Amino acid sequence: MTTSRDFFHSRIGFVLAAAGSAIGLGNIWGFPTQAANNGGGAFLFVYLIVTLLLALPALYAEIYLGNQAQKNPVSALEDACRESVPNVGKYAGIIGLCGAVMMLSFYTIVAGWMLAHALSPLFELLGFIDISNWLSTSSTARNVLFTPIFAILGAVIIHQGVNAGIEKWSTRLMPVLLLMLIGLIVYILQQPGASEGLRVYLIPDFSQVTDPKLVISAMGQAFFSLSIGVGGMMVYGSYMKKDKDIGKLVLSIATLDTFIAFMAGLLIIPALFVAQHAGLEVFRDNKLIGEGQLIFSILPQLFSSMGSIGLIVAFGFFSLLSIAALTSTISSIEVPVAYLVEEKNKTRVKATWLISGIVLIASFTIIAFFDVLFGLIIQLLTTILQPLSCLFYFLVVGWIWKRGNKLVDKSLQNNSQWLKIWGNYLRYVCPILLSVVFVNVAILN
Ligand code: PFF
Repeated sequence: MTTSRDFFHSRIGFVLAAAGSAIGLGNIWGFPTQAANNGGGAFLFVYLIVTLLLALPALYAEIYLGNQAQKNPVSALEDACRESVPNVGKYAGIIGLCGAVMMLSFYTIVAGWMLAHALSPLFELLGFIDISNWLSTSSTARNVLFTPIFAILGAVIIHQGVNAGIEKWSTRLMPVLLLMLIGLIVYILQQPGASEGLRVYLIPDFSQVTDPKLVISAMGQAFFSLSIGVGGMMVYGSYMKKDKDIGKLVLSIATLDTFIAFMAGLLIIPALFVAQHAGLEVFRDNKLIGEGQLIFSILPQLFSSMGSIGLIVAFGFFSLLSIAALTSTISSIEVPVAYLVEEKNKTRVKATWLISGIVLIASFTIIAFFDVLFGLIIQLLTTILQPLSCLFYFLVVGWIWKRGNKLVDKSLQNNSQWLKIWGNYLRYVCPILLSVVFVNVAILN
């Protein structure tokens, strides 16, 4: 089916959109929580290694596949596998597409919490204390209100299309996010107790870096953070003109994403120690109290201990998280939308609202059975579906498609030796390395 496809109009537009997808709650909420729970500096150290050895190559493979195919992920994988293993690619693409919907179903809920927490200090400033308290307290009613609000925000941006919607908004929102993060770091580092947090975060305890649980957490975090394994990066790769210097672009995206995660750690981990210095109990038996709830319990307390300026800081911080969540949501919705537009002849507007409706139904199902489903869906996606999809991408690029040793990449075209080494790395080393980690995940689970 041929439809005229929209494109990113600039390299920077592509990099910012892809980085916008990568940078989200995973970096600013997930990474610091995991780092604080897994030895601080040791986690950071392993995270950087895993990103370099596995997540970055997986991101490359995903974007490369989309860029070569110039099609949505289902059709791209279907084409790549047509000769050797007919239909396998198509089904893998559809599984990835379901992964994107799974990701959206829980991510939209959490993003709704961020939005509510961003509005809470505003209502407090205006004197509506009851509303402010309601907004900052977890409840089913709050989920039912804010999940759709967030879903609608994402749909409004995405139905405007690649250039007008995704590229324009990512280009605008990303720099704002970085500036807000820097401002908050400067603020927090001046507070008493912050230097102890800095030390824990920046100086690794090397006796912990071989702990398999730490390695596995770091690997899951790296995959989720770079948005690999559900087709979001593949569809963005397909919106870039063919045969660009993918290597350089992937390096920029991974660097930006890792930099923001690092900066988020630089904010949150010292913030925890500032809270502890102020008398709050933050760690018990070396683990964070409340784990994933850290941001929603400890940070608001910390912000309120700052007096009225804390309300502005809280607003800034949670707005920052909402913006990051929005640009990540956009790439995931784009996966099924691109499929419906290109293969099922739907208009972009119809496809967007249809998918948003399906996501909302899934989100409401999770809200209704929250205790059972919320953690389960996250676990299924990040520890099973994403790693398996990445393994599949490596196998497609390296073996099934028979192009692992024939990569086309402008970044490396003047250096055929490096291109060959890189091709062989994707072909041999990555699938083996990923299988080893995946088997370990299965055993430890
Ligand atoms: N990378 C995003 C984050 O760190 O929050 C999450 C994500 C976005 C995962 C898009 C997958 C995806 F397709």
